[in-house]
Amino acid sequence: MIFELSEDQVQVRDMVREFAEREAAPHVREWDAKQNYSRDIIDKMGEAGILGLPIPEEYGGLGLDYVGLALACEEFEYVDTSLRVVLSVHVGLNSLTLLQWASEEQKQRFLVPQAAGEKIATFGLTEPGAGSDAGAIETTATKDGDDYILNGSKMWISLSDIADNFLVFASLDRSQKHKSLVAFVVERGMEGFTTGTIKGKLGVRAGNTGEMAFDNVRVPGANRIGEEGEGFKIAMSAIDQGRFTVGAGAVGLTRASLDASIRYANDRQTFGVPIGKHQLVQQMIAKMVAGYEASQLLVYKAAELKNRGIRNTRETSLAKWYATEAALQAADDAVQIHGSYGFANDYPVERYLRNARGSTIYEGTSQIHQILQAEYALGYRIDKPLSRPQPPAVGFEDEV
Ligand code: CAA
Repeated sequence: MIFELSEDQVQVRDMVREFAEREAAPHVREWDAKQNYSRDIIDKMGEAGILGLPIPEEYGGLGLDYVGLALACEEFEYVDTSLRVVLSVHVGLNSLTLLQWASEEQKQRFLVPQAAGEKIATFGLTEPGAGSDAGAIETTATKDGDDYILNGSKMWISLSDIADNFLVFASLDRSQKHKSLVAFVVERGMEGFTTGTIKGKLGVRAGNTGEMAFDNVRVPGANRIGEEGEGFKIAMSAIDQGRFTVGAGAVGLTRASLDASIRYANDRQTFGVPIGKHQLVQQMIAKMVAGYEASQLLVYKAAELKNRGIRNTRETSLAKWYATEAALQAADDAVQIHGSYGFANDYPVERYLRNARGSTIYEGTSQIHQILQAEYALGYRIDKPLSRPQPPAVGFEDEV
């Protein structure tokens, strides 16, 4: 593994860092309080090319590799989790999945405007009664000629009230569980399709999260992604991309907690010395350093496999689990280091803690990841090559 960043990677890291500092940092506290970011910020991300970072130039993206995508996620989440979530759903769960599974005609129709930021995209798998057990979704698709009629609902969907294109999953025959799932692009404006926003979340309050409802929504066969029965595999490979961006973002949240703690520990005095001189504070800082660097290495390992188009479900799950747990611990310790000041919103660390809490739940709970890791180690679970593998990143095609 090469540890030195390439020129392109440094460039994108600096571009996103500067963008997030300029366009978002001054507003993050206000957006968190009013539970809504300005839609402007997503348009600006699109104009800067950020919504098409890892999409090949032939589809209107910047053609960046997965380390570059990880750096962008880290830099966004350093400033605010809700911005990294935009990359997770628009780029990770949706656009990269279309790149892998959609037909050429569908890529031209859906992926190209998404990479340019002209259309915003999200992903709908989770339902009120099906989260961890993704194969148990109850939304149905009934064939009617070349079309499908969708009925059901989705919940906890990021960008639900913002997105134009929705990659959703439905069952053709619920008795067949995961074997009967089928994937569709549902477009805003289709008759019978509605969305709504959930308010009152503990964290990621600025981000839009909500529901979708399908009441006899007629979806043309041309909007079906992959074959009937391939839906579960498409959903799981999408989640391999989404989890990667969540893990990469968590690296940024850990760094934010560390930097805030270092500033405070060097400034605040107790017993006649800066609190950074106290060994129990040092212990918390040391754990953040280890959490940051170990998480980053796990994310980069997954990125290197993705760059080469090698199946990486195990490595991505490990990176997501470890990095989000490290971020949660770091944010909790950052609040502890700030003492009573950490408990109020004059300092950012209480927001870091609230934002970190969700990431050990969404895109696979920490418990799901522990089961997966144990099953891999025990030999009960093996990642087989996929019928439609994830394409290698631009520039890595010859290395496969
Ligand atoms: N890529 C491609 N195919 C995969 C795959 C992957 N990553 N993982 C599994 N599959 C395939 C398997 O090879 C298997 O294929 P065969 O039937 O041909 O053998 C099939 O899918 C079934 O796999 P499993 O036996 O592993 O299925 P399972 O029922 O045991 O479930 C699970 C496994 C790991 C628990 C899975 O259900 C899971 O990851 N659950 C968590 C779901 C999750 O992370 N949800 C978050 C969604 S994010 C969201 O909706 C919110 C938002 O904001 C957008």
